[in-house]
Amino acid sequence: MTRESWEGCMLLLMALLASASGSFVGINIGTDISNLPSASTIISILKTQMIKHVRLLDADRQMLTALANTGIEVMVSVPMDQLLKIGESRSEAANWINKNIVPYLPATNITYIAVGNEVLTTIPNAALVLVPAMQFIQSALLAANLNFQVKVSSPQSMGMIPKSFPPSTAAFNSTWNSVMYQFLQFLKNTGSSFMLNAQPYYGYTRGNGIFPIDYALFRSLTPNKQIVDPNTLFYYSNMFDAMVDAAYYSMQALNFTGIPVLVTASGWPSLGGANEPDATIDNALVYNSNLVSHVLNGSGTPSQPNIPINTYVYELFNENLRPGPISEKNWGIYNPNGTAVYTLNFGSVNESNDTVPSGLVGVFCVANSSADSTALKESLDWACGPGSANCSAIQPGQPCYESDNIVATASYAFNDYYHRTQANGGTCNFGNTAMITSVDPSHGSCIFAGSMGSNATTSDGSTTSGTIGPTVDGSQLQLLEWCCIHIVPLVLSFGFAL
Ligand SMILES: *[C@@H]1O[C@H](CO)[C@@H](O)[C@H](O)[C@H]1NC(C)=O
Ligand SMILES: *[C@@H]1O[C@H](CO)[C@@H](O)[C@H](O)[C@H]1NC(C)=O
Ligand SMILES: *[C@@H]1O[C@H](CO)[C@@H](O)[C@H](O)[C@H]1NC(C)=O
Ligand SMILES: *[C@@H]1O[C@H](CO)[C@@H](O)[C@H](O)[C@H]1NC(C)=O
Ligand SMILES: *[C@@H]1O[C@H](CO)[C@@H](O)[C@H](O)[C@H]1NC(C)=O
Ligand SMILES: *[C@@H]1O[C@H](CO)[C@@H](O)[C@H](O)[C@H]1NC(C)=O
Ligand SMILES: *[C@@H]1O[C@H](CO)[C@@H](O)[C@H](O)[C@H]1NC(C)=O
Ligand SMILES: *[C@@H]1O[C@H](CO)[C@@H](O)[C@H](O)[C@H]1NC(C)=O
Ligand SMILES: *[C@@H]1O[C@H](CO)[C@@H](O)[C@H](O)[C@H]1NC(C)=O
Ligand SMILES: *[C@@H]1O[C@H](CO)[C@@H](O)[C@H](O)[C@H]1NC(C)=O
Repeated sequence: MTRESWEGCMLLLMALLASASGSFVGINIGTDISNLPSASTIISILKTQMIKHVRLLDADRQMLTALANTGIEVMVSVPMDQLLKIGESRSEAANWINKNIVPYLPATNITYIAVGNEVLTTIPNAALVLVPAMQFIQSALLAANLNFQVKVSSPQSMGMIPKSFPPSTAAFNSTWNSVMYQFLQFLKNTGSSFMLNAQPYYGYTRGNGIFPIDYALFRSLTPNKQIVDPNTLFYYSNMFDAMVDAAYYSMQALNFTGIPVLVTASGWPSLGGANEPDATIDNALVYNSNLVSHVLNGSGTPSQPNIPINTYVYELFNENLRPGPISEKNWGIYNPNGTAVYTLNFGSVNESNDTVPSGLVGVFCVANSSADSTALKESLDWACGPGSANCSAIQPGQPCYESDNIVATASYAFNDYYHRTQANGGTCNFGNTAMITSVDPSHGSCIFAGSMGSNATTSDGSTTSGTIGPTVDGSQLQLLEWCCIHIVPLVLSFGFAL
């Protein structure tokens, strides 16, 4: 089987899986950037990453135009500075809809309007206009006959839930009980979702050491660190689930059930100031990779196992104009010039057989091919010596041996070291000769740590390993085989449309 048909099949499989599990990972596109890339550049990044859902923090005309006919679903936002006048005037709300929504549909698939962001916790003075603003927007949609196409909600911060652990006892700050009651009634009546910005980075850093970082990063917890809700006896393997459940229980405390939580922002900063040691590329990569596979797995939270947790990763670009500490400007996967801060695979659907996703599946530490070869050799010697990487596979006669390829050889050693030590603070640096990638360097029988690793058998009896791009787990393998046996020949007979 050719490489092209294999990849075509994987893409097809991805599409099938996405629709089967019903859960999705989207991304936030913030624009507090001095050199904002053009809308078409942004779209091409989204396409490369196969991202199908975006959250805009405004209703930018150029973005909404560029998103037309892309198949990407769009959440637009009513910016905070327009909230007040919309909440005070039905006609302002109608104007807003007629200007920012109506002209773009149906070519641009706008499915949600987020009214403001964290309104109650950031501008409490606007609390009384929040629900009216949502109602006026909803009426305007109804008048435009768009109320079935577009849903209305408003993202809340975890700051609304003063004591979120244990989740079963969580409740919204009672100062806002009457607003929240109306808010939830609105969501219930309109079939909308509860939008939550769930940031374990803050839960962890503000927890002052109460929670282990592994809990925030979706990494396995040792038995003595397991986190159990004493009332429900639900086991929380990660803080993200605990936050989402805290929102469910807070709604329940006001007697609301059946409103799904939609996570409108979750991520991890890749860089911080001297007092922000946990904002690192490694942690950002681990958090976001695990978040993606956790969400795409399709299972919900311990309290709501049947409701997938759709999530918008925060965020596409580093926003250099955002106020606050250094970390605040470094939540992006990409630099504004379009280069990746680190390589995140949005399509990964592999989970380890563990109940907790393994930290680094699909993430590799490889030698930078532009690095100086003397420096690479020194780093290689260090990795295989003091670094205690297992370098047996790169010895003569072994699968990864390549006598004249220092980049390939060092890559194997760097990656082995990184996978052994990452959970305990090991990094992918090696004197700036190494870099992180999601492209699996495995080839033939040379399998890199973190690779899907298993040789999938394809219909023509050949094998593949070191899959590039999306990976699948064992339970999906049968579907994959089905796909390759039934779909690829079909496609071939139609002139290789993939
Ligand atoms: C827009 O998104 C919705 C929700 O996923 C989907 O059902 C619909 O088919 C999409 N519409 C278009 C025109 O793509
Ligand atoms: C609840 O919200 C009010 C108003 O913003 C605030 O003053 C108070 O400190 C909050 N309570 C808690 C426990 O966070
Ligand atoms: C929720 O319902 C229970 C039982 O009907 C009632 O006792 C309680 O007061 C209600 N709580 C709220 C916040 O409405
Ligand atoms: C892109 O931006 C990053 C971060 O500012 C910088 O390190 C990098 O050199 C830039 N790359 C190019 C090609 O301009
Ligand atoms: C799968 O589970 C078994 C038994 O717990 C364990 O030995 C093995 O290492 C696991 N494999 C992976 C890839 O996590
Ligand atoms: C999702 O994860 C759960 C537990 O982590 C696992 O039991 C289940 O098989 C996974 N489902 C899929 C479709 O991978
Ligand atoms: C690779 O090394 C070159 C030369 O030192 C450097 O300019 C480049 O930024 C490095 N690439 C990465 C991804 O670290
Ligand atoms: C080192 O890797 C080889 C395979 O490349 C494996 O057979 C061997 O058991 C590993 N040794 C250790 C100590 O992990
Ligand atoms: C993958 O297949 C190759 C070629 O058939 C074989 O040599 C190798 O041992 C296999 N690797 C694994 C991890 O099964
Ligand atoms: C997912 O990837 C891991 C790490 O490569 C692999 O060991 C595991 O078998 C895969 N999961 C399943 C269920 O195949």
